[in-house]
Amino acid sequence: MKFFIDTANLNDIAEAEALGVLDGVTTNPSLMAKEGITGAENILNHYKKICDLVEGDVSAEVIATDYDGMIKQGEELAALHPQIVVKLPMIADGVKACKYFSDKGIKTNVTLIFSAGQALLAAKAGATYVSPFLGRLDDISTDGLNLISEMRLIYDNYGFTSKILAASVRNTMHVINCAKLGSDVMTGPLSSITGLLNHPLTDSGLAKFLEDYKKGN
Ligand code: E4P
Repeated sequence: MKFFIDTANLNDIAEAEALGVLDGVTTNPSLMAKEGITGAENILNHYKKICDLVEGDVSAEVIATDYDGMIKQGEELAALHPQIVVKLPMIADGVKACKYFSDKGIKTNVTLIFSAGQALLAAKAGATYVSPFLGRLDDISTDGLNLISEMRLIYDNYGFTSKILAASVRNTMHVINCAKLGSDVMTGPLSSITGLLNHPLTDSGLAKFLEDYKKGN
């Protein structure tokens, strides 16, 4: 399973990259705003900085909600850097735009997926990545992981090549469960990746090894 980090914070991206397990980055307008990155030019420059930090795919989201606007913004984003993936919302014009970019060989990420039907539509439009929002479903007492299972079944039934990009991942158990269910990619905050390191038996075991080494030397 690929690990993407879901942030626009350059320090967090660099830390995940330094761990050697990072495969890409996802962002959204809220994450950009959280870092104080505002204005079209600053946002575009920030995407370039992110692309310079990592080797994998970097999702950059369009702001337009009409077909023509999405095509214009998506083309501008795609021209920025070969690593850019055009992120499109799951609305009718987003599906149409996804088909347009797929036909042109430009990578896409269809975002804000909350149902199997939406996931099916995105796959039929040729999306490179389809992003079910796990955490936000959990937030409204709906099992987000069930959507990952449904998507895996549907995509495997028909050999859809779209990658399931489990998004809105909030914690390490989300990551582990996504891996068990066959999600192709997960995207979450730095803590959802570094949290996988933690086990008290690792810490106490290492402390004992070092203590015993010192006794004999
Ligand atoms: C997906 O690409 C989104 O950026 C993201 O995962 C949303 O996560 P949140 O629900 O924690 O805001």
